[in-house]
Amino acid sequence: MSNADQVEYWNGPAGQKWVDQSDRLDAMLAPFADTVLARAGLKPDEFVMDIGCGAGALTLRAAAETGAGQGALGVDVSAPLIALARARAVASGAPARFELADASTYTASPAADIVISRFGVMFFDDPAAAFANIRQSVRQGGRMAFVCWQGLAVNDWALAPLQAAMPFLKEAPPPADPTAPGPFAFQDKDRVARILSDAGWANVAIDPVETAIVLPGDDALSTAGFMMQLGPLSRLLEAQGIDEAQVRDALIQLLQQHKAPDGRVTMKSACWRVTADNA
Ligand SMILES: C[S@@+](CC[C@H](N)C(=O)[O-])C[C@H]1O[C@@H](n2cnc3c(N)ncnc32)[C@H](O)[C@@H]1O
Repeated sequence: MSNADQVEYWNGPAGQKWVDQSDRLDAMLAPFADTVLARAGLKPDEFVMDIGCGAGALTLRAAAETGAGQGALGVDVSAPLIALARARAVASGAPARFELADASTYTASPAADIVISRFGVMFFDDPAAAFANIRQSVRQGGRMAFVCWQGLAVNDWALAPLQAAMPFLKEAPPPADPTAPGPFAFQDKDRVARILSDAGWANVAIDPVETAIVLPGDDALSTAGFMMQLGPLSRLLEAQGIDEAQVRDALIQLLQQHKAPDGRVTMKSACWRVTADNA
């Protein structure tokens, strides 16, 4: 289980873009940190491990909730994101530490009371083996709470930009493998349940969370700029070398239709909220 493609991806230009846009991404994804923490039910002095922690926003919030006892640990394969997470921990004084490591092979010591994640667990080549390993980092009786995206078709924030680009594509995008490592790999709820039970997790519960998310940018123009740099559209533009100006215009028009009264672009999203126990 090498996860080599994802390790390369998150250490390349994409990882750097996540660093550059980290404050805007954190603002957009803050409601999902709320979702994870509401389900996690953290108690003072618990030791929390955050998988695929990125720049550490969720880890830092967990550390603030549990206090200085054992603190929180964030694990991620991206060197630029871990560097930013460490700098944020120093700046905030939060009792959090960060490891540059692949969660599918890393083992925490001592074992954590709970594993959490905000969209950081869908990138494993062999998810059942990865979740079996993650379970080794959680004490007997410990628990897990994470969010992962449902399918592209029910996530307008990701689908709409692709639709805007469709007329300008040089070739039809190859049919996507819905289980391939990536943001939508856990779209099939039954598959997620199977992966977790195969990995030895008990009491697996998976609930839908459908919510509107406010995209970065004060207006459609700046949101379009953001979407062209990060996410599924940016990958498509890069892969096909498409004329960006035409796509930008089409995207701005489409985003205008999703403006909230304050002018900001707000779109539908759907994810799964997953909990399980290491019984
Ligand atoms: C969509 S980002 C989410 C980052 C962060 N959880 C957040 O909400 O801001 C996914 C993260 O998973 C990390 N990741 C991917 N594969 C990983 C692996 N095998 N082990 C640890 N982290 C991984 C990436 O480097 C990236 O930071």
